[in-house]
Amino acid sequence: EVWNPSGKYRVISTKPMPGSRWIRLLTDQDCRVEICTEKKTILSVEDILALIGDRCDGVIGQLTEDWGEVLFCALKRAGGSAFSNMAVGYNNVDVGAATKYGIAVGNTPGVLTETTAELAASLSLAAARRIVEADQFMRAGLYDGWLPHLFVGNLLKGQTVGVIGAGRIGSAYARMMIEGFKMNLIYYDLYQATRLEKFVTAYGQFLKANGEQPVTWKRAATMEDVLREADVISLHPVLDKTTYHLINKDSLAIMKKEAILVNASRGPVIDEAALVEHLKVNPMFRVGLDVFEDEPYMKPGLADQKNAIVVPHIASASKWTREGMATLAALNVLGKIKGYPIWANPNN
Ligand code: DGY
Repeated sequence: EVWNPSGKYRVISTKPMPGSRWIRLLTDQDCRVEICTEKKTILSVEDILALIGDRCDGVIGQLTEDWGEVLFCALKRAGGSAFSNMAVGYNNVDVGAATKYGIAVGNTPGVLTETTAELAASLSLAAARRIVEADQFMRAGLYDGWLPHLFVGNLLKGQTVGVIGAGRIGSAYARMMIEGFKMNLIYYDLYQATRLEKFVTAYGQFLKANGEQPVTWKRAATMEDVLREADVISLHPVLDKTTYHLINKDSLAIMKKEAILVNASRGPVIDEAALVEHLKVNPMFRVGLDVFEDEPYMKPGLADQKNAIVVPHIASASKWTREGMATLAALNVLGKIKGYPIWANPNN
């Protein structure tokens, strides 16, 4: 699909993206926009090389693509200078290689913070109240009347929410769980989440002033403290060498037997094979996963576990957010091509 065929700058999007604002932004600024409509979901390096061809100024790519040495070298050779991931995460991008070839890299933070946090909160609630299991039970025609023990789950109020990685998304998630469900907070992050701490303190004072039990917060000295103490744990770190398999057999073993673990960050943060084993022997341990170690696949056995809720990497999938991500990705590429500052650079 081609927009503004006579445009001076050739910008490629490796996938159709939601909305039309991003296309208008580029075409209004003399860009010819080419959108790859190839049916297969994940484009290979070879597919993208063919798209870049011998003349290309900028590319908007996806988190499923391997943006490394080969593609950045090809983009440079084609006269390009700009690449943006349509994602906040950029573990699929070798920023060092991009820099080597003089290609500016952008990502799309901000517009997906609340949407992603809402999905993590949804998974937490769904796991706590066994909503997916109960839905399947109803659809299977198994409901034959109210029972005192039917799908008894966990009350979140007064329990402790643990956040690992209290950046933008982790903090938004924490706020939702604290304000929405009056949970106490324990978090682990290399940096102090000052605004989050202030929020919990102020909200605790508000509850107290209204005669309610105040919520509390604690910054954990180690991640293990969070794993040991929290009832619901949500993972929000970036994926890099230090966070690969952050949750493994040993860390699972120190979590509460009835804990809930949520991951809407990146799959390889969890050793998924170890998680499957843990779920098998701990039926009261529940997990809500938006991401998987080896996407789009799940490790054998995971889909059979009733105590696992699995959704296909949809944390940022609200219309507003996805249109915002597309717009920011276009702004990043346009900024570099036109010599303006690019909107978001993961190096900044
Ligand atoms: C991201 O942006 O990194 C998410 O995984 C997809 O929205």
